[in-house]
Amino acid sequence: MITAVISKKGGVGKTTTSVNLSAALARRGQRVLLIDLDPNAGASMSLGVGKAELGPSSADLLLRGTSATSLVRETGVENLHLMTASVDLRGAEAELDKRPRKDIVLAPHLESIRRGYDQIFLDCPSSIGLLTRNAITAADAFLVPATPQFLAVDGLEHLVQTASRVALSAGRQTGLLGILVTMADYRLRATRDVIADIRRRFGTKVFVVEVRTNVSLAEAPAYGQTVFEYKPQATGAKAYQLLAEEFLDTVRSQPSLAGLGRQPVGVSW
Ligand SMILES: Nc1ncnc2c1ncn2[C@@H]1O[C@H](COP(=O)(O)OP(=O)(O)OP(=O)(O)O)[C@@H](O)[C@H]1O
Ligand SMILES: [Mg+2]
Repeated sequence: MITAVISKKGGVGKTTTSVNLSAALARRGQRVLLIDLDPNAGASMSLGVGKAELGPSSADLLLRGTSATSLVRETGVENLHLMTASVDLRGAEAELDKRPRKDIVLAPHLESIRRGYDQIFLDCPSSIGLLTRNAITAADAFLVPATPQFLAVDGLEHLVQTASRVALSAGRQTGLLGILVTMADYRLRATRDVIADIRRRFGTKVFVVEVRTNVSLAEAPAYGQTVFEYKPQATGAKAYQLLAEEFLDTVRSQPSLAGLGRQPVGVSW
């Protein structure tokens, strides 16, 4: 199954979620591929790849059609593979804009490789530009991290509508898998009110698990580690471990998504 991690807002925890949810699922024995689609390469560097080692990257897949399998690397986490992003992605939006079916360039490139993985996550930049649109049309579902701040609900409604429209215009049914509350600081009075508001509006589409503000989640990337290696006992590690369970339960409960795991034949691991 392919999940795009998207939002219009920056700094809401897309990369932190992509990295740590991927790692949590890998620790449970799922075969996971994280594809970094953000030119800032935050997910790649969070998994320990140095700036000088970012290429070849997802830019080669998107712009040059390099085979996905040849771009995948191992990481320090067992069962977790990575396709890095690199600065070459900076020009990707302009480059894709010249293509005829510019919203659906990525999808065909993932068709064969997806058979080798239970889960593929696409960490997107903070906008609904062409990179994110390509992620949406390549994905089976999208996941939206949201920080519980003033006016959060309005932004989320607009994002979910936009993303669904992008999918439909490409003939895809990609829908919202769930909204994840991140960086929740319950000491702030507004936090609980905003979360209640999000839950009222989106109901069961909001993950029960809420990720609190946790310093270990913010520190781990500087060491090129997921929170599970950096500080396994941190509340952030526990939260992403619980999220992995809820994620799998959610996928299993949706007939259109449940059968999308790794296939017995196809790409060898
Ligand atoms: N639960 C958390 N507690 C504390 N810090 C967090 C938490 N989640 C994320 N952070 C930190 O907040 C910052 C933004 O998070 P992150 O990079 O995951 O967001 P993003 O949506 O990917 O941002 P961008 O739009 O820049 O790609 C980072 O410094 C990250 O380490
Ligand atoms: Mg990011």
